Amino acid sequence: MAPPTDSRIGIAALKALLAERSPLGPLKVMAEQVGRFFQIPLPGFKPYVVFGPEANRKVLVSEREKLLWRNHDPVTDLLRRGVLVTDGQEHDQYRKLMEPSLHPSQLDGYTQMMLEKSGQVTAAWQDGQIVDMLVESRKIALLIIMQALFSVDVWDDMSRIWTPILKAIEYISPGSWIIWRKIPRPGYKKHLRILDEYLHEIISNRRQTGDITRHYNQFTDSQLPNPDLLQHLIDAGLDDNTIRDQMLTMLIAGHDTSTALLAWTFALLGQHPEIHKQLVADLEQDERPPLLDQVIKEALRLYPPIHIGNRMVAEDMEFEEGTVPSGSRMFYSIYLTQRDPSIWENADQFCPARFERGRKTPSFSYIPFGGGPRACIGAAFGQAEARLVLAYLLKNFAFTPLNAEKIHPHMGATLEPWPGVMMRVMRRGSGVE
Ligand code: HEM
Repeated sequence: MAPPTDSRIGIAALKALLAERSPLGPLKVMAEQVGRFFQIPLPGFKPYVVFGPEANRKVLVSEREKLLWRNHDPVTDLLRRGVLVTDGQEHDQYRKLMEPSLHPSQLDGYTQMMLEKSGQVTAAWQDGQIVDMLVESRKIALLIIMQALFSVDVWDDMSRIWTPILKAIEYISPGSWIIWRKIPRPGYKKHLRILDEYLHEIISNRRQTGDITRHYNQFTDSQLPNPDLLQHLIDAGLDDNTIRDQMLTMLIAGHDTSTALLAWTFALLGQHPEIHKQLVADLEQDERPPLLDQVIKEALRLYPPIHIGNRMVAEDMEFEEGTVPSGSRMFYSIYLTQRDPSIWENADQFCPARFERGRKTPSFSYIPFGGGPRACIGAAFGQAEARLVLAYLLKNFAFTPLNAEKIHPHMGATLEPWPGVMMRVMRRGSGVE
């Protein structure tokens, strides 16, 4: 059979864009019709996209030296010298300073705090109220990340930082700047300044008070890892601006992802009432039933919050299907890898049971946290958080989905369930379920 022509692919891609209301549609068309190596044919923007276990291994491990994380884009403009957008020794230095606070051995110390933050947000819910789980998950994730890494309770500051944080996320989300890099972008400056001022206040307060990172123990018996991430950065002698860059990186990377994961999990449970029911029943019997982890893993497979990894190619890279020349922009697609029908049976279906008895797929085919030395630094933290928050919410509230069938993925800074996950909530045990 003759290979499909460019115009046929173009039409199919456009149809998919309209049908799925997301660029994920055209990406799937390209993957189906062209394969695991293609270029996005946009005017002025022709990045290479690769996916699949072999390509992922190359990008993440065996040939990662040929790639740079630092790019010329709004992410780098915003995060400046943050760990996510630096390379080489500079990156390694920051990463090393941040690892201790996120080490799996420290996670138990965060448990009580994570439950309390979930309780704080849900205390405001009224029986029968309709809530958007995309918004509520963000509140919980924000409170958790700020407490865990900087020992700051942001509850009373929510009205000050909420819009600036949403604006920062919008600033780095895909938009017209992709094609027209110098497009004027009004409406951000004031908000980004407020966020910067807030972070600088936290740094300067800490410099004045010294290490106060034990303070959370005043309220709970829990042991928090000491010192916290902020204290590690200060103790290492970094200047305020560099600390601000790491804090903003962790604040965004550490809460927008968890927000998306929690919200997608609720969206999927809303679409699959039988699994929702089973999970609630299992949680009544067991603190951490196997289904809880399976549901979270499957949500991360279908809707990986970070759906692509973004790289600058510094040295030509050879793939089975072709060469990516030095100087190109390249993405490795987590989404396409985790939906590849040649790897995953019923790839587009929500089926937590596929994770029942270990996974029988090749390595680098399930990569929601990336891989190799620059894999997600918060992977263990993010998964523990999702487990605890989800279990807390499902044990304490009954959720009735209201827009389950209308939800579709939206490419913001993360892949988000759009236009939100509307649920009617009822406190369990209130007798009106
Ligand atoms: C469900 C939650 C999360 C998901 C799905 C996720 C996903 C990812 C992925 C896929 C990468 C690698 C991207 C690439 O290869 O281009 C990454 C890197 C990163 N993540 Fe996460 N993440 C999550 C939670 C967190 C949390 C909680 C934190 C911080 C507390 C965090 C901080 C970071 C940082 C700093 C990096 C860059 C690491 C480096 O370059 O050395 N993430 N994350």
